[in-house]
Amino acid sequence: MSARISASVYTSHVPAIGAAIDQGNTESPYWEPLFAGYTKSREWIADNTPDAIVLVYNDHGNAFSPDLIPTFTIGLAASFPVADEGWGPRPVPDVAGHPELAAHIAQSVIQQDFDLTIANELQVDHGLTVPLSLMFGQPDAWPCPVIPVAVNVIQYPVPSGRRCLELGKAIRRAVEDFDDNLEVQIWGTGGMSHQLQGPRAGLINAEWDNVFLDRIIADPEDLAEVPHIEYVREAGSEGIELVMWLVGRGAMSDLDGGPAPEELHRFYHVAASNTAVGHLVLINS
Ligand code: DHB
Ligand code: FE
Repeated sequence: MSARISASVYTSHVPAIGAAIDQGNTESPYWEPLFAGYTKSREWIADNTPDAIVLVYNDHGNAFSPDLIPTFTIGLAASFPVADEGWGPRPVPDVAGHPELAAHIAQSVIQQDFDLTIANELQVDHGLTVPLSLMFGQPDAWPCPVIPVAVNVIQYPVPSGRRCLELGKAIRRAVEDFDDNLEVQIWGTGGMSHQLQGPRAGLINAEWDNVFLDRIIADPEDLAEVPHIEYVREAGSEGIELVMWLVGRGAMSDLDGGPAPEELHRFYHVAASNTAVGHLVLINS
């Protein structure tokens, strides 16, 4: 029996959320409403821990630099160390990979004409570790292997929403072609509206964010046509991270003739630090 995508999880990855967890501040008046929004998902994933997670995220100049800007990177290592982003590495476990499944996805997706970069060594930053902390809390070891898929949304030119959705479809085909009975989740991270720089720093567009949530649930093919300029104009310069959610959505089976996914949970919260936070869990029927 082959592997399958069982669910997709979407979440923002604000570094201040990681700091609140690491410093034991999750119950404070500022943070409690944010973490309450993840309770349902955390209970669900405790009972539905997958055999592997394909975690789509972006590096923030920690593993990569302007010297090397791959558009899409897949991590094939057995272990991914936690990056030091300037304050020491977060006190979270290193991330175990799944080299066999990752190598298979690389082989299959590259043969489907997506030119992935292969990372045999990769440090992972808050883009990957904060979503793990939000869903799994503070375990001694992460409960399942993680395959990092890094998307360049930092330095233009960045990939289109359409390209991201199509990558998700290719990943789903790759997973379903893996000859082992694995349950695999795909996570799309980053966003929602935020701008960390310039005169518009602090921009939040709750209306646009919520329409994005409506559209990624109900009509991702149409959402995939939204151009970069709309993300940046409406959701701020870092709002472009949201294209990574389309990779996760592209891997759901309704985009290949299957039934619509079940919406387990949807959450939106303003603010965490300078950003809006969005979260969604979709289950393949
Ligand atoms: C911040 C950084 C991020 O990468 C992000 O997606 C949101 C917020 C920050 O530094 O506050
Ligand atoms: Fe970010």
